[in-house]
Amino acid sequence: MQLHTSSWPEVEAYLTRSKGIVIPIGSTEQHGPNGLIGTDAICPEVIAAHAGAQSDMLVAPTFNVGCAQHHMAFPGSMTLRPSTMIAVIYDWVLSLGRHGFDRIYFFNGHGGNISTIQAAFAEIYADRSLARDGSNRGPVKCKLANWWDYKPVYKYCMDTYGKSHGAHATPSEVAVTQYAYPDAIKTAEMTPKIAPSARYTDAEDYREKFPDGRIGSDPSLANPTDGKKLVELSSKGLIEDFAAFVAS
Ligand code: NI
Repeated sequence: MQLHTSSWPEVEAYLTRSKGIVIPIGSTEQHGPNGLIGTDAICPEVIAAHAGAQSDMLVAPTFNVGCAQHHMAFPGSMTLRPSTMIAVIYDWVLSLGRHGFDRIYFFNGHGGNISTIQAAFAEIYADRSLARDGSNRGPVKCKLANWWDYKPVYKYCMDTYGKSHGAHATPSEVAVTQYAYPDAIKTAEMTPKIAPSARYTDAEDYREKFPDGRIGSDPSLANPTDGKKLVELSSKGLIEDFAAFVAS
């Protein structure tokens, strides 16, 4: 069930069955020579849509621009400052909390978002912790999970791609987008075959160290068949983990 395609009476009825909602959250940033700019938003969106069609789970709109300052030397990338992103997550959660949602599951597609999402959770919890007489707002619990976190997904990535998986513009995330958008599949020469790995700071430093945008990966290995399998595995993990979270 998608929030965007539901009516308010349907949401009101859902709230009598569940107080949980999934928010796909990603980024709009370069993903190497053959990866789509929207990769990190597309992956959680597509997996959550799959899960939402198979179970009684409400899926919110995708939070599709995240913390990607280090990708800003590549055309097309967009970013929020961490402070902006914290403020926006705060308002999204409060909006949902206003209607009675109290289990907010952030389903993430971008490693660079993790620390900022966790900081936003701390801001939300601090409101209640610091209220002199206890907040009059109900306790909202937030959870963060990355789409690749579930054990069978991680195992599939390692078994299929091994040392070529890498850390950015990975074959697994590119495969998911190829399954989701077969008309947008790109091909490109990967030189070197497996991209370098290193630490980085700002956008200029990143582009100097990773000239084609990849880190440690060979995304030419991606194919839509693997993408379908990854969507199914991650969707299963999401359904199980969300149900446990809502029941907690
Ligand atoms: Ni990515």
